[in-house]
Amino acid sequence: MALIISPSLLSANFMNLKADIDMLNRSQADWLHLDIMDGHFVPNITFGMPIIKQIKAHTTKPLDVHLMIEKPERYISLFCESGADIITVHFEGSIHLHRTIYQIKDTGAKAGVAINPHTSAELLWDILPDIDMVLVMSVNPGYGGQKFIEHSYDKIRAIREKANKINPNLMIQVDGGVDNTNVKKLAQAGANVLVAGSYVFNAQDPEVAIATLKNAL
Ligand code: DX5
Ligand code: ZN
Repeated sequence: MALIISPSLLSANFMNLKADIDMLNRSQADWLHLDIMDGHFVPNITFGMPIIKQIKAHTTKPLDVHLMIEKPERYISLFCESGADIITVHFEGSIHLHRTIYQIKDTGAKAGVAINPHTSAELLWDILPDIDMVLVMSVNPGYGGQKFIEHSYDKIRAIREKANKINPNLMIQVDGGVDNTNVKKLAQAGANVLVAGSYVFNAQDPEVAIATLKNAL
């Protein structure tokens, strides 16, 4: 499976976002990862619909929207109207997750479920056949630039093994502390979508950093 690279704009330069979107359009990035935080689900606040709409108007790539918000079901249609192509909600943030997933799918967007580092992969088994993607958080959500949690490999392996039986097309995304040192091992464990924020945007040449991840295998 070819790797899908989804750079996280959390580490982009918001004083000159247009330049970073232009760079991402030129780059080998497959998607743009947008981190939406509400100050409740995570101890940080980022941006919302008006910014997403403006990004949508300038990008040539699909928008991969990671909702770190409580009760995301309240806002699915608004995120979709703003231009989200893939919407990922947290297992821990939505009580009626099955209903939320179909709310996303009914808009035509792809549906993902994210799990925090403390959440067992096994809790996903009943929802796995219904979703397009699992996002394994390999750091505690809220901030860029944190250290990768090694236990994530076991989780990815367990999800890939289960998905081979009940949802072979499932995408497995990893988010947090992804860089050139762990990309191969993540792919070997069964991940095929990699989010990278600080590794890309702190690089001397972000386009080269994206290409390094994209062509790591
Ligand atoms: C963290 C976000 C990530 C973040 C990753 O809560 O979900 O997408 O941008 O940043 P890095 O790649 O720097 O760990
Ligand atoms: Zn994210």
